[in-house]
This record gives sequence, C-alpha cells and structure tokens, in this order.
Amino acid sequence: MWDMMPRVASSLSDSEIEQAAQRYAAEPPPSPIPAEGSLNLARGIFRHGLPQKGVPACSSCHGSRAQGQGIYPRLAGQNPFYLLIQLHYFKNGLRRDKRAAIMQHIAKSLTGKEMHALAEYLASL
Ligand code: HEC
Repeated sequence: MWDMMPRVASSLSDSEIEQAAQRYAAEPPPSPIPAEGSLNLARGIFRHGLPQKGVPACSSCHGSRAQGQGIYPRLAGQNPFYLLIQLHYFKNGLRRDKRAAIMQHIAKSLTGKEMHALAEYLASL
C-alpha cells in the first residue's frame, strides 16, 4: 500500500499538504502497543461499528481479522502512523481515489480519539 503514497501526494495542492502536516504535527504519534482503554474502544468499533452514528463494523468489509479481501485492503499489521494518516486523508477529503467515497463517509463520523485508537489496534493485529 506504500505504493499509493505518490499517487495520493500528487493529487494534493501545496497548501493541502501544508495543512495536513500541521494537523499531524499537533497530534501525539500512535503507539504500536495500544493502551487497554483504547484497545477496547477500537475492538468494539472494528467488530460492531458505531450504530448510533451509522458507522458499519470495519470487519464487515476488511475481514474478521482485518486481513483484507478483494477491493478491501488489509489493515492488520500496517504501520499505525500510516493508518492514522489515511483516516485523516479520508475524513478531510484529501484521499479521493476511485473507491475512497465509502471511507470518507465512515471517517467523517469518527472522532480523532476513535481514529487514533483504531490505528493502534489495527497495527497490533
Ligand atoms: C463498506 C465497506 C467498508 C467498511 C465498513 C470499512 N472500510 Fe475501510 N476501506 C474500504 C475500501 C473500499 C477501502 C479502499 C479505498 C480506496 O481504494 O481508496 C478502504 C480503505 C481503508 C483504509 C486505507 C488502507 C490502506 O492500505 O491505504 C483504512 C485505514 C481503512 N479503510 C480503515 C477502516 C476502518 C478503521 C473501518 C471501520 C471504522 C473501515 N475501514 C470500514 C471499505 C470499507
């Protein structure tokens, strides 16, 4: 999936890149070893979604072990910082390749804390 980065980057303007960089610089980096509380939060979202916010279970597309299937990329074991950045890209409409619309919708409903927890959890799988 790293091979997507140049394609993503080339679709962004300089000011979009600048804005994104500032946002990530303000955030604590995700940890490869999630804390217990965030682990439970993320595991719940991964398996059951957030029905009250209309967020479907991540596992329903990405697979029960986040192993990926068909057009749904593997999330398990990916670099936590990479995963977090992708979620921010989706949320802010900066990643807008062909199939990004579904993830844009999902990420818009997630808080920063939820995305952070998910990135750490998925990286730990
Ligand atoms: C309805 C299906 C669906 C659900 C549910 C879903 N995703 Fe996705 N996800 C996708 C698709 C399709 C892509 C690929 C998008 C693209 O090609 O730009 C994707 C891509 C991603 C990526 C980028 C991976 C990479 O290697 O670049 C991340 C991170 C991600 N999803 C996280 C999540 C999380 C976290 C959840 C649960 C909150 C979730 N997804 C739920 C369909 C889904």
